[in-house]
Amino acid sequence: MQDLDQLRAQALADVAAAASLDQLEAVRVAALGKKGTITGLMKTLGSMGPDERKAAGAALNAARDEIACALDAAKAVMESKALDARLARERIDVTLPGRPETQGRIHPISQTIEEITAIFAQMGFMVAEGPDIEDDFHNFTALNIPPEHPARQMHDTFYFGERPEGGRHLLRTHTSPVQIRTMLSDKPPIRVIVPGRTYRCDSDMTHTPMFHQVEGLIIDETTHMGHLKGCLIEFVRAFFEVDDVPVRFRPSFFPFTEPSAEVDIGCSREGGELKIGPGAGWLEILGCGMVHPNVLRNCGIDPDRYQGFAFGMGVERVAMLKYGIPDLRTFFDSDLRWLKHYGFVPLDVPTLSGGLTR
Ligand code: FA5
Ligand code: MG
Repeated sequence: MQDLDQLRAQALADVAAAASLDQLEAVRVAALGKKGTITGLMKTLGSMGPDERKAAGAALNAARDEIACALDAAKAVMESKALDARLARERIDVTLPGRPETQGRIHPISQTIEEITAIFAQMGFMVAEGPDIEDDFHNFTALNIPPEHPARQMHDTFYFGERPEGGRHLLRTHTSPVQIRTMLSDKPPIRVIVPGRTYRCDSDMTHTPMFHQVEGLIIDETTHMGHLKGCLIEFVRAFFEVDDVPVRFRPSFFPFTEPSAEVDIGCSREGGELKIGPGAGWLEILGCGMVHPNVLRNCGIDPDRYQGFAFGMGVERVAMLKYGIPDLRTFFDSDLRWLKHYGFVPLDVPTLSGGLTR
């Protein structure tokens, strides 16, 4: 069996020299395959005498096992090298910054709500929410607008059908019902803002049937009208990022506030473009006032001890002014070209420290 030692040594040398899984397989076939060299020797065992066969068989088995082991070991090394190479190739550095240039855009309404929230959060307001479908009590009655009150006519309300138990639900006409929900569930001091959808049967360049408001409410023992004006002027400056925006407080009426005011921002509409700043026009952006004692009473809050202010701002209106969008209805056309033009890159998260808009 001198042959065997030679063949074994050759096969082991071939295994060591193999540079790929394919070459390794060729070595296996050449030695241990059906027509392989070692297999060939195995076939000669039949012609041997019993003693000789025993010795040769054991030597052959040992050689075959040794070669098979070497093949397995070499294969394992190659496979793990291949895996390492692939892992290195496909490595992703998760600490790299994201790519801001994606196709998607944040709608100007979402962005504007984020901006407004960032400003009021800095002033210590919490965010509260309420349902879009409201009942008469929260949307009107508790806000000091009893049934048959003429102020109900001003709201162009969408009503649902009569309920079996009487009364009709409605789509909230403003975010003010969340004032009621908050005062019923929380104790003063209260300081919340309420972003959300609102609905009115109304449509032209500055009105749409669905629009957004951000409500604000402060209730404590000391807040007065001066705080209201200071807070809103501060907001307007931070939001528009201009120090000399013309702002005017116009006396107004809301059943749920006394005194009441509306706030307008100076603008011009020259050449079909809407611009904030000194100009021929004013655009109403919000209603506000000191919370009416009846409203506090309706929520179980003692008006002799507590007072505060509230405001309700049109989100589309301030977005139009800030971003020069002339027609409110385009916000809801779902026109991708419009969104590409007026929309925001997803990673442009508004913060006061980083600058609201970059
Ligand atoms: C109100 O809705 C009061 N709830 C605001 C308020 C809250 C006053 C708290 C006092 C205290 P008004 O109907 O004026 O008020 O609407 C508020 C703002 O919503 C308006 O200034 C305007 O910016 C916006 N707005 C009103 N109707 C529409 C509409 N159809 N489309 C878009 N924006 C609208
Ligand atoms: Mg108004």
